[in-house]
Amino acid sequence: MVLDQFKRPLKDLRISVTDKCNFRCPYCMPIEVYGDDYEFSPKAHVLTFEEITRLAGLFVRLGADKIRLTGGEPLLRKDLPGLVAQLAALPGLKDLTLTTNGWFLAEHAKALKEAGLQRITVSLDSMDDQQFGKLNGRGYGVQRVLEGLEAALAEGLKPLKVNAVIKRGENEDAILPLARRFKDTDVVVRYIEYMDVGNRNGWRMEDVVSAQEIVSMINEEMPLEPVDPGYRGEVAKRYRYRSGKGEIGVISSITQPFCGDCTRARLSTDGELLTCLFGHKGTPLRDPMRGGASDDELLGLIENTWNRRTDRYSEERPWRTSPGNRKIEMYQIGG
Ligand code: GTP
Ligand code: 5AD
Ligand code: SF4
Ligand code: SF4
Repeated sequence: MVLDQFKRPLKDLRISVTDKCNFRCPYCMPIEVYGDDYEFSPKAHVLTFEEITRLAGLFVRLGADKIRLTGGEPLLRKDLPGLVAQLAALPGLKDLTLTTNGWFLAEHAKALKEAGLQRITVSLDSMDDQQFGKLNGRGYGVQRVLEGLEAALAEGLKPLKVNAVIKRGENEDAILPLARRFKDTDVVVRYIEYMDVGNRNGWRMEDVVSAQEIVSMINEEMPLEPVDPGYRGEVAKRYRYRSGKGEIGVISSITQPFCGDCTRARLSTDGELLTCLFGHKGTPLRDPMRGGASDDELLGLIENTWNRRTDRYSEERPWRTSPGNRKIEMYQIGG
C-alpha cells in the first residue's frame, strides 16, 4: 500500500482511453473551442492497450482495486472490449467499470459484458430532447442514450448509475423528471454539482445548484431518507425513497468537498499520472515506459508521485479559483 502526505491510500484508478468525444457538452468541450478541426492527441501520443494494461497492473500492485475507464467518450476507442478483457484479467482487481455518454452503448453492451466489465455509468443531464440537445452541444435526443442504458441493464451491467450535472438556468428543471423516470428501477441517478473543471467552461458559483437544494426538491415530491456510504470515501451521498424502490446520490464537490477521503489516481490519454481532477501537470509515465523503464522503475515513479501528493483542491477552491490557475481539461482525464 502507498500513502500520500495526508495518509490517503491509492485505491482507484481512472483511465482516460481517448480525449475525443462525439458530444460537445458546453461545461466540458464547448463547441466554440472544440470545432470540427480541433486537433486532439495524435495517435502516437495515446497509450496503447498493452501500455495501459501494463501501467494498470502496476497500480493494482500498489493497492488499487478499482478501475474506471473514461474519456472523452471511451466507446470511441476501437475495440474497447479488448482492453476490458486485458484489464479484467489483472489479479487483485475487484471493480471494473466505465463512464460513457451512452450514444454507442447499445451496440457494445454485450461485448463489454462478455469481456468482463462489471458495471457502467451513463451520463444523462436531461430527459427532454430539446434541453438534452443543447446540453450535448449536438442537438441529439435522449432516446438513443436510453436504448444504450436498457441494453446495458439487459446484459446485467449493474448497478447502473446515471450521472446528471445540474447547472442553474440550464437544467434544474431536469432534476424531477430524471428522478421520476428512474424511481422504482435498478438505476441510481446521481446529481453532480457543476464544477470548475478545466479552463474553458466559464464556471461561476452562481451557476451551482447545491446538493442540498437538489435533495430538498426531490424530497418534497418523493420523500427520501439517507443511506450509509457503500464504502469509505464514496463520492456520492446516498438517499433512498421512503416509499417504493430505488435510490439517488448527490455529488457535492462544491458545497461539501470530499478530498479528505480521496483515493483516486488518474491516468490521462497520453500517459500522465494526475493526483487530482483539478491538477495541472502530471507525472509522465509514457515516455519513461517507451524509453525502456523496468516495472520497478515505473513503480518508483508512481509511488514517489503519490507519496508527495497534497491535493485537496475542492477544499481550497474558495481561494484558488483565479483565472491564472491553469488546470487540465476534464476530457483528458475523465470525470
Ligand atoms: P462509483 O464507483 O459508482 O461509486 O462512482 P464514483 O463515485 O467514483 O463516481 P463517478 O466516477 O461516476 O463520478 C461521478 C462524478 O463525480 C464525476 O463525473 C465527477 O464529476 C465527480 N467526481 C468523481 N471523482 C471526483 C473527485 O475525485 N473529485 C471531484 N471533485 N469530483 C469527482
Ligand atoms: N462539472 C461537473 N461534472 C462534470 N462532468 C463533466 N464536466 C463537468 C463539470 N464541469 C461530468 C460529466 C460526466 C462525468 C464524466 O463528468 O457529465 O457525467
Ligand atoms: Fe463528452 Fe463527457 Fe465531455 Fe460531454 S462531458 S463532452 S460526453 S467527455
Ligand atoms: Fe480528490 Fe482533487 Fe477531487 Fe479533492 S478535488 S476529491 S483531491 S480529485
